[in-house]
Amino acid sequence: MAELSPDQVAENWGAIASDYERAFEGLSGQFAAHALRLLGLRRDDHVLDVAAGTGVFSLMAARAGAKVLATDFAPGMVARLRERIAEEQLSGISAEVMDGQALAIPDGAFDAGASVLGLIFFPDQDRGLAELRRVLRRDGRAAVVCWRDPATLQLMTLVKQAVHKVVPEFQSHAAPPAWARLAGAEALKTRMEAAGFREVAVVTSKAVQKIDEPEAYWSGFTRSAPPLAHLFGQLGPEVTAAVGREYIGALRAQSRDGLPTLTVEACIGLGRA
Ligand SMILES: C[S@@+](CC[C@H](N)C(=O)[O-])C[C@H]1O[C@@H](n2cnc3c(N)ncnc32)[C@H](O)[C@@H]1O
Repeated sequence: MAELSPDQVAENWGAIASDYERAFEGLSGQFAAHALRLLGLRRDDHVLDVAAGTGVFSLMAARAGAKVLATDFAPGMVARLRERIAEEQLSGISAEVMDGQALAIPDGAFDAGASVLGLIFFPDQDRGLAELRRVLRRDGRAAVVCWRDPATLQLMTLVKQAVHKVVPEFQSHAAPPAWARLAGAEALKTRMEAAGFREVAVVTSKAVQKIDEPEAYWSGFTRSAPPLAHLFGQLGPEVTAAVGREYIGALRAQSRDGLPTLTVEACIGLGRA
């Protein structure tokens, strides 16, 4: 079996749950809201969230009246989501630790399902897609969110450029990420169809995040995903701070009103089981 990358290890995600929530949900929440609109849920629909993280999609669906099961393989993520459910005193939503490649759920149990920037990390993405379809009832709808184009993903290209400016000699030996294999409309459509989804259609979704407090944002951002935590752990605090100044400067350069602004694009694949 191929070696797992840092973003394929449950403990690595669990360890960063609160930084993830602070730094990343501002973006993933915009895709979650778009996916939710496209799914067109009815009140009391049973909805599954695969690789739910700190639960932005699940919480939105529950607030809209759906019955939600949020699943994630990282106990730390599930623990944080359970806290949020309790804080909001939401009913009709629960969270369970579960690997999205082997869902402990009977066939046809849900009316709808989603995975927002989640199953893209699986070592076996096709198995994740097939599992999502298996647990939906006939005609149940799925929404799968992946990145549109890894090569132009600002989130990552700006980090690489900022690291290169501060430490030109730094060489990352990381292999290309698994999530880059399930990116773009064509790959997403083809692979959802191969997993048995029907009437597959893919739309582009854009998320824009204005960063009011760059320093606070940067300190969370460096730990908002396992590969970033790994990279900045290697670089150490001083270099990380210098990279942060470059990164924020680059974001600021492309904003219109002085606030650093990040723009990222995803694809949302919709299909019927
Ligand atoms: C980028 S986060 C997305 C979280 C959430 N869906 C959102 O939109 O904010 C990726 C999530 O995938 C989860 N994950 C990665 N591999 C998984 C697997 N094999 N089974 C279940 N969850 C997994 C991680 O624990 C993490 O919470």
